[in-house]
Formats: sequence, C-alpha cells, structure tokens
Amino acid sequence: MRVQVAIIGAGPSGLLLGQLLNRAGIETIVIENKSQDYVLGRIRAGVLEQGTVELLEQAGVGARVHAEGLVHHGIELCFGGARHRIDLNGLSGGKNVTVYGQTEVTRDLMNARQEAGATLIFCAEQVSVHGFDTAKPSVRYVKDGVQNEIHCDFIAGCDGFHGVCRQSVPTSAITTHERVYPFGWLGVLSDTPPVSDELIYARHERGFALCSMRSRSRSRYYIQCAVDEKLDTWSDQAFWDELRRRLDEKAADMLVTGPSIEKSIAPLRSFVAEPMRFGTLFLAGDAAHIVPPTGAKGLNLAASDVHYLSSAFIEFYESRKPGALDTYSNKSLRRVWMAERFSWWMTSLMHKFPDAGSFTENMQLAELEYLLGSEAASTALAENYVGLPF
Ligand code: APR
Ligand code: PHB
Repeated sequence: MRVQVAIIGAGPSGLLLGQLLNRAGIETIVIENKSQDYVLGRIRAGVLEQGTVELLEQAGVGARVHAEGLVHHGIELCFGGARHRIDLNGLSGGKNVTVYGQTEVTRDLMNARQEAGATLIFCAEQVSVHGFDTAKPSVRYVKDGVQNEIHCDFIAGCDGFHGVCRQSVPTSAITTHERVYPFGWLGVLSDTPPVSDELIYARHERGFALCSMRSRSRSRYYIQCAVDEKLDTWSDQAFWDELRRRLDEKAADMLVTGPSIEKSIAPLRSFVAEPMRFGTLFLAGDAAHIVPPTGAKGLNLAASDVHYLSSAFIEFYESRKPGALDTYSNKSLRRVWMAERFSWWMTSLMHKFPDAGSFTENMQLAELEYLLGSEAASTALAENYVGLPF
C-alpha cells in the first residue's frame, strides 16, 4: 500500500494531523498498536488553549467542544489559606481556555476519521519504521498475523513517549533534555459537582493540590504525592480528607465528595528531544516532548506541533517547496521550550520539594505575593496559560 504520509499513533496528535491532512486531500494512514477502547479509555487532562480550539475547528471537530466545553476566563491560586483569582481574559487581551476532556477530543477526531472513511488501523503489532534517511521511507506492521508494508513520502511519529519512532532514531542524531521531579500526582475522577466554577491550583505545606473538572457534574482532583506512592494505600476517604487539608476553608466546606470512578498516580517530568525531524521522519507531541501537567500544556503542545507540521505538509504538496518542512523542527521547538519553561515554573512555584529548605519555601511565597501584587507578573502567567501565539 502507498500513502503520502504514514502516521504512527492514534492519540490526539496523530488523529489531529490525520484529520487536517485528510481535509487538504493528502492521503494518510494512521497506525495504532492499541485497541480503540484502550485509546479511548485513557484518562488525561482537559484544558484547551484558544489556539487549540481554533485548530480543532479547522479540523472540523469544533462542534462538541463548543457545545459541551466550559469556557473559563480565569483560574484561582490558593495559598496561605486564601484563594486569589488570576483574570486570564482581562490580562491576556480577551483570550480564554476551554475545559474539555482530552478523551473527548480523541473521540471526536476518531469519529471524524471513521466518518470520512480514512484508514485507521488499531491493534497493529510489531510496528517498525524504515528508510527515513531516504526519500522512500516505509512502515511495517503485523495485523491479524499478516505482515503489511506501507510505502510513503513521509512518516509522522505521533506515537507518544514510549513509541517506536523516536527510539528508531540513531542516538548520535538526537539530543535529549530531561528533568524528573521528586513527586507525582494522585488523581481522582468523580461524578460530583466541581468545588468551584474555575480551576484551583493550591500550594500548601503538605503539598500541591488541583481542583479541575470535566463538566458541571464530573470533577477531576489531584494531590501531590511521593513518586513511589502505592495506589492501594489511598482509599477515597483518605484522598478527600487530604485534599480538604490543602484547600482554603471555603473550598474545604464546599467540596462534594463521592466514589472515585478513576484513580491513578502519574510521575512528573520535563523532557525534550531535538531535533524533531530526521530525514523523512517527523516527530510530534509526546514522541518529542513531555511537560509536567501543572501548566496544562501537554495536549496544547501536541496541537501546536500539528499546527506547524500539517501546514508544512500542505505547503509541500501544494508547491513541492520543502521550506516549511525544513523549518518545522526549529519552529516547533521554539514554542516547546516556551511551554517547558512555563510548566517547569508553575511546578517549581506550587509544589513542595522534599529536600527544599526554608529558603526555597520563602522564595515560592515571595513569588506568589509578587504575582498577586504585580499586573506585569500576573499578565505573564495569564498569557502563558491561555497559550502563546503560534
Ligand atoms: N505503534 C503504534 N502506535 C503506538 C506505538 C507503536 N509502536 N507506541 C505507542 N503508540 C500509540 C499509543 O498507544 C497512543 O495511542 O501512540 C499514541 C500516542 O498518543 P499519546 O501518548 O496520547 O501522545 P500524543 O498524541 O502526542 O498526545 C499528547 O497526550 O499524554 C498526553 O499529556 C499528553 O496531552 C498530551 C497528549
Ligand atoms: C485536568 O483537568 O486534568 C487538568 C487541568 C489542569 C492541569 C492539569 C490537569 O494543569
């Protein structure tokens, strides 16, 4: 089989790229090694930058985001027993974020691809990429015991952090940068009304906490925990009690608790691989970079890469000019490092570092006081949170 662009991975980056290229008449295939249910069963974050919502509209999957997404004009920072609102809309010249689960974004893109009749292979085994140091790359995979080979012009590696694409690049050709944080996030999803209309990011001497949501009746909460924390030591009640301790009194009183419908622990790391292009292989999303979730940038960075990569492929097939393909890696990495900085800064500001002494803690508190007292400082937070321009 031959296509123009073979896309590895049916997460948000692979599906969004596939949708934008499909609408531009570029022939693609999406090859995923997990099942559809597995991909849709993963609970991930859910805060969309305005630029991401516009890209989903461009891909023809904006309707449900607008119908069911919650538009937020601000966030709240909670520390010292009080909450302080950051007016994202006012400080960013009118921009907002939209709370809409990544799982729903993935579902919308998957439905759109299937409705368009475009090829989407699930449960592909032994996926491997070949010849990307030539103009004739190919992808091989086994499906139902049958060996398949896809010949293509380009391979888009959208297969996440543990995928085969980045791992297929010779180590001499790639440089990686990493920061692993000495804590994780214990997350709970519950069919309970959110404690607040806007997200609450809490810094507390017992550790970080986040109050988020998926809808007006489904909430998502996180508390900072040790990296080696055991999930089975956390009953729902223990989770709710600890969350309450880390919130201001009003939120603690307002908090509606209930049985968790999902509970998991995620490690926190910052990771960047560069460059993001190796001959005819292009990496996008988690395949090239990871951010700690404190800045809500994971999905938005994947969309940012796809913005640059889809326009580069479309320009190439319209003009046969490789210009945008040649600048893809630098353009994407420039925005990746900006989001890495913001996510590292939010993580450093709001979490309790195990071995941090009183000096570091006073630095965090001084930074928070400065943030609230300075329009310039809170504007910097707001413009990064709503998303820097592409
Ligand atoms: N072959 C085929 N598919 C693969 C392979 C492989 N060898 N390895 C992984 N995959 C699939 C995974 O099963 C997954 O469905 O690639 C997909 C990658 O999707 P994501 O990990 O969601 O990465 P991405 O699409 O870049 O989305 C980034 O996901 O993790 C969040 O915070 C992150 O929000 C960000 C978003
Ligand atoms: C979430 O809703 O899961 C969420 C929101 C904001 C973050 C991280 C996660 O910063």
